[in-house]
Parts: sequence; structure tokens; C-alpha cells
Amino acid sequence: MECLWKLENVSKKYDVKKGDEVLALNSVSFEILKGETFGVIGESGSGKTTLGKVMIGLIEPTEGKIYFRDTSLTDLRGKKLLNLRKEFQIVFQDPYRSLNPKMRVKDTVMEGIRDNTGMKEKREKVKELLGMVGIEPARMYDYPHQFSGGERQRIAIARALSTSPSFIVCDEPTSNLDLSVQAKILNLFLELKERLNLTYLFISHNIKVVDFIADRVAVMYKGRIVEYGEKVDIIKNPLHPYTSVLILSAFLRKADINEKEKSAGKGCAFYPLCIYAKTLCSEHIPQLKEIDKGHFVACFKRT
Ligand SMILES: Nc1ncnc2c1ncn2[C@@H]1O[C@H](COP(=O)(O)OP(=O)(O)OP(=O)(O)O)[C@@H](O)[C@H]1O
Ligand SMILES: [Mg+2]
Repeated sequence: MECLWKLENVSKKYDVKKGDEVLALNSVSFEILKGETFGVIGESGSGKTTLGKVMIGLIEPTEGKIYFRDTSLTDLRGKKLLNLRKEFQIVFQDPYRSLNPKMRVKDTVMEGIRDNTGMKEKREKVKELLGMVGIEPARMYDYPHQFSGGERQRIAIARALSTSPSFIVCDEPTSNLDLSVQAKILNLFLELKERLNLTYLFISHNIKVVDFIADRVAVMYKGRIVEYGEKVDIIKNPLHPYTSVLILSAFLRKADINEKEKSAGKGCAFYPLCIYAKTLCSEHIPQLKEIDKGHFVACFKRT
């Protein structure tokens, strides 16, 4: 697969107060392939949004190189840079940030459509975009407050699509939504990716969301990527202790525990909750075995 993005030792320092600085991104390097969804997880303040903004040019990196389709964005200036940036979009957590409450949906979505497009054509395009995100085109004359949270996020997505981007930073786009709505919006992102050949950087602090949507995942901690790889490998076999903590805490929720305990079979009692579980574990009870001198464990993963 074609490599779309390449980041080399990208850092971003924010000057906070006199003499005080925050290293929000610390020498970050990775590649994103065309057509993939690259998930980014990490706790609040780990640098996820800064990473997304640096990539699409909303923030200048302090150091490092960023390549998009082999073109160095950090060396590009003027019109060429502006033209390339038109291929990038961002969808935020709170659609209120990208939707002007005083503007009709039609005008919000229209803003991104190329200037040299005729008015009638623009209106048709708005209808098409709204249809694509599951909003009744007839509602284009309504205002944002007349829509539900999920619908507003759909409109924000339509607005993002109006510039015909090839790459979208999705910055926790479902975190403010009810669970049932979240799933629908995530499915919409997947559908649009296929239909429009998009590539996503998908930011979330919720590993289950990333598990659902991403192909590969990077784990950030204090401005650094501490681990990245194929989603299944990261979730089933986390190698960095911080990744393990994130994954275990996400998958071992109390509500889930009660629910899942009911389904424990004749095997290992921890099987229903275990992210390392194999079929063997549901059928047989692992016995305590000495792995290191004096260190015993009852788990098939270790035996
Ligand atoms: N404009 C800014 N000026 C100064 N510091 C900033 C600025 N934006 C972010 N930071 C700091 O940079 C660090 C990374 O912030 P960032 O918003 O990228 O994290 P995040 O992972 O997106 O967090 P969250 O999950 O809360 O959205 C934090 O310490 C934050 O306080
Ligand atoms: Mg953020």
C-alpha cells in the first residue's frame, strides 16, 4: 500500500508562561498508509490533538519533518502549501465548534465548496453531501439547534467533506454522543471512507472505539508514541506497560465484569474477561505452574 504520510521526529513546544514551555509532541515518527484508519489513543494531555493539528497545518511543528505523498509540508510555502492543505480536514468532538449557530445548515456546508461553482450547483452539492451523511436534504434550511447531537455531528462531517478532502483528522468525534448514536456515527465514518477513498487519523481516549474503527493504532504518553502497530497486535499483545494498563482498564469495566461472569464456562474463571483468552482457556482450568524460580501462575498464556 502507498505511504500517504511520513512524520520524522516531529516535536511541538508550546510557550505557556514566561520561560515555561510544554513539550506537547516529543520526537514523533510514524507513517500512515493510504486508505487506512490510523488510531491514536492516550490519556488527556498526551498530545493527540496537537499531533492532528500539526499534520494538517493548523499548528507549526517546532522540529521535525512532515511528508504528505512525498512532499515535505515543512518546506512548502505559499500557494502550493495552501492547495495541499485543502485535502485535509478535521472533525472535532463538539460539532458546535465547527457549526455556526447563526448559520443555516445549507450555508455552513456550502462554505467549503469551491468558489467557482455556480449557486445552483452548490445547492445540489449540499443536498448530495447531506444525503451522504444521512440528513434529509430538505432540512438544509434549518439551524444547528434544530438538530440532535448526532445529527449535528453528521452536519459537521458533511461540512468537512465539502472541500473534497482525502485525509480527515477525526478528533474524538463521538465522545460527546450517547452510546447508540456513537455506533451509528462510527459506521458512517467507515462507510464514507470506503465510498470516498479517505484516510483517517482517528483520535480517541476510548480504546473500544479505536478497536472498532482503526486498522493500526499508536499509543501516546506525554507527547511520545510509546507503541504502535496493527490493532489486533496492540490489543491482544500490548508490549509497553502503559498500553497494557490502558487496555486492561478499558476491558475490565465493572459493569462488564458482572455481565461476563455469568457466561464463565467450565474453563478458567477469568476467561470471559481476559484479553489473551484462547479457546483452550474456556475448556480447561489452567493449573499453577512455576514459571520462574518461586513464581507461580495459573494461565495458559504463560505455559
Ligand atoms: N495552545 C496551547 N498552549 C499551551 N499549551 C497547550 C496548548 N494546546 C495544548 N497544550 C498542552 O499540550 C499538551 C497536549 O495537549 P493536547 O490537547 O494535544 O492533548 P490531547 O491528548 O488532545 O488531550 P485531550 O484528550 O484532553 O484532548 C497538554 O499539556 C496541553 O495542556
Ligand atoms: Mg484532544
